Amino acid sequence: TQPLRLGIAGLGTVGIGVVKIVKQQAELLSARTGRKIEISAVSARTRDKDRGVSLSGFAWEDDPVALATRDDVDVFVELMGGSDGPAKAATEAALKAGKHVVTANKAMLAIHGQALAEQAETAGVNLRYEAAVAGGIPVIKALTESLAGNQITRVMGVMNGTCNYILTRMESAGLPYETVFDEANALGYLEADPTLDVGGIDAGHKLAILAAIAFGTQVDFNGIEIEGIERVSISDIRHARDMGYRIKLLGVAQMSGRGLECRMSPCLVPSNSPLGSLEGPTNMCILEGDSVGQIVLRGAGAGEGPTASAVMGDVCDIARGLKIATFGIPAGQLQTAHAARSAVP
Ligand code: NAP
Ligand code: HSE
Repeated sequence: TQPLRLGIAGLGTVGIGVVKIVKQQAELLSARTGRKIEISAVSARTRDKDRGVSLSGFAWEDDPVALATRDDVDVFVELMGGSDGPAKAATEAALKAGKHVVTANKAMLAIHGQALAEQAETAGVNLRYEAAVAGGIPVIKALTESLAGNQITRVMGVMNGTCNYILTRMESAGLPYETVFDEANALGYLEADPTLDVGGIDAGHKLAILAAIAFGTQVDFNGIEIEGIERVSISDIRHARDMGYRIKLLGVAQMSGRGLECRMSPCLVPSNSPLGSLEGPTNMCILEGDSVGQIVLRGAGAGEGPTASAVMGDVCDIARGLKIATFGIPAGQLQTAHAARSAVP
């Protein structure tokens, strides 16, 4: 069997995590998928940067588009970030060239997911993105595969590790927002533009993706009501605690009498509930289906290891020859969010 050859664009927190797993777990990956998984080529902005891991043996490309379309690349792994720019250009080029794509880029999927899904379908390749939502938690797989026999009625949860880290650390250490924000940055949790995190936009991107899969709609980021955590003060947190509650940036997407509702905002949750017990950069996704009832998935929502773990799960599925529609059903069958909203009387 031929090896599965990766081209990785982006060698930051997540990209380096992926390089480490491919190198350190080579035998395990091969045993589990029946194929060797290799890295052919890599790309980042700066070539001569010490990234704490050897990149020798991998070809270097300055241009992510050139990397994505190389003959010795079967899977383009996009880990640069940004909804547009090089990430989108290289992803489109890869799909056009018939390469599978694995990405952690929720911003790109929340804005361009439908168009990219159509391109992947036309090319007959996979566009996979487990790492884009809730870091190491396999929530995309749960919705697209494990719960495929259910009508999903509600998806909710804490989907931004940075915000949960900031809120819980402010509470436990009594530290001001700015100090905790700097800590989160040093730990690699923040987006390149941190306002995406604290403004609730990153979590909104993730909710838009989950809602698309859960309710069979086109990804509709603009249909989400979003409020971030910037205005949550330490005294709000203390008052909530005194009343037996904690403040969480909570996302909810559900079908109700008013149709499909999606919102992401700071909410009070009981301290003794599963959501109330979440500490640090942990995420929790709560999925409700007509047959399965409620299931709760909890785990690390950000950081090198957990996010790279999710990327590699997708790579392994491709190595095994699995083919899954990007949002669970053929892209052409996704209805507009408006249609989903008006479908419920
Ligand atoms: P990061 O640490 O900032 O790394 C970004 C990488 O992309 C860097 O290696 C950078 O190059 C490279 N890059 C940026 N612009 C480029 C360009 N124009 N051409 C070539 N390379 C370019 O980001 P990250 O935290 O790894 O995140 C990567 C993606 O994963 C993002 O979509 C993010 O939303 C997503 N994600 C991150 C996490 C997390 O916990 N960090 C979790 C889930 C999803 P240089 O190193 O040379 O600057
Ligand atoms: N900045 C994101 C977070 C990374 O803190 O959750 C994981 O998507």
